[in-house]
Amino acid sequence: MLKKIFLASDHGGYRLKELVKSFLIKKKQPIEDLGCFSLDAVDYPDYAKLLSDKLETVSNAQGILFCGTGIGISMAANRYSHIRAALCTTVEMASKSRKHNNANVLALGGRILPDKLAIDIVYEFLHTDFEAGRHRLRVNKI
Ligand code: RB5
Repeated sequence: MLKKIFLASDHGGYRLKELVKSFLIKKKQPIEDLGCFSLDAVDYPDYAKLLSDKLETVSNAQGILFCGTGIGISMAANRYSHIRAALCTTVEMASKSRKHNNANVLALGGRILPDKLAIDIVYEFLHTDFEAGRHRLRVNKI
């Protein structure tokens, strides 16, 4: 079964969230958009919480969070012990965040990343598996 991808953003990440959402829908990826739903200003910790709550109860799921820089929303998400949110600005970071850190949430900066790079990062994140082994021991120490 295809894993479910939850998306959430503040206003600073809204535009990129919409772009990534269209890409995932085109790829027939099951998604759920938790908002926000316009460019009106909202607080990113509220959207980090919405997504974190979902990942606590839904198995076989990952999340993608967006704010202006990706910084605030990744900081907020990482306050939840079941979340390992990786703020990525390169495809290699996305790859390593999965292989080494078993990240279950990708965080992106809507005002930072060119669109194509953002899509490439999303693709890499969703198609890369955790390598486990020695990395599992380290992740377990977080
Ligand atoms: C909102 O203006 C902006 O501060 C937010 O999107 C994010 O970049 C915070 O880290």
